[in-house]
Amino acid sequence: MRRKLVVGNWKMFGSLEGNRTLLEGLTAGIGDVAAEVAVCVPFPYLAQARQILNGSGIHLGAQNVSEHFPGAYTGEVAACMLREFGCKYVIIGHSERRHGLHETSKTVAAKCAAVEASDMVPIVCVGETLAEREKGATADVVMGQLDAILSRPDIDLAEAVVAYEPVWAIGTGQTASPEQAQEMHALIRGRLAEKLRNNVSILYGGSVKASNAQALFAMPDIDGGLIGGASLKASDFLAICRAF
Ligand code: 13P
Repeated sequence: MRRKLVVGNWKMFGSLEGNRTLLEGLTAGIGDVAAEVAVCVPFPYLAQARQILNGSGIHLGAQNVSEHFPGAYTGEVAACMLREFGCKYVIIGHSERRHGLHETSKTVAAKCAAVEASDMVPIVCVGETLAEREKGATADVVMGQLDAILSRPDIDLAEAVVAYEPVWAIGTGQTASPEQAQEMHALIRGRLAEKLRNNVSILYGGSVKASNAQALFAMPDIDGGLIGGASLKASDFLAICRAF
């Protein structure tokens, strides 16, 4: 179902002590937040986060997953393992993996299928680089990333989330304007509707902070945010969660 959702992506940050302060700050302040909230933590901290978040209403997620079922894949983590540790969400296809780690759209689609097969919700990231935007290829790039998922008949996206994250806006302080983001969200929504995927929530990600969240979340096709840097401090993240 399409819903209001704010997800923190901690990326490769955290420590046992720092996580406790952050998560306890979130659980203490979440009471007056109307949107659904989740945090996607590094794998080793899933157990700690699960324990601290228990009963808080804040959901847990991971930032990556193997496309494979359990087997001889040294260093990989299977979807069923994430499920066992209480994950509801799994981020897949983040640009830091597509570009920094050469993850292809085909691999991202396989990961999406693996997440659904373990009854979790994929957060599928799509977005263009600055060079792609400047040469007018934004729509083609984003639709191509989306179509890799939509072309697989075994992926139903019934509960899925898509996150539009323009690469040039991630960690740069340069947010897409609400109008730029809305234009892409409407395009994504249109493609999903053509394929009868009308329940997908579409998040915006890229330098979201308390000062710009309200204007972004007010746009008709922006259902929430995928938050990087500003999710690492409880007061900053809660202020974004309250922007609805
Ligand atoms: P920032 O909010 O730090 O720009 O990161 C966005 C992001 O990559 C979330 O997945």
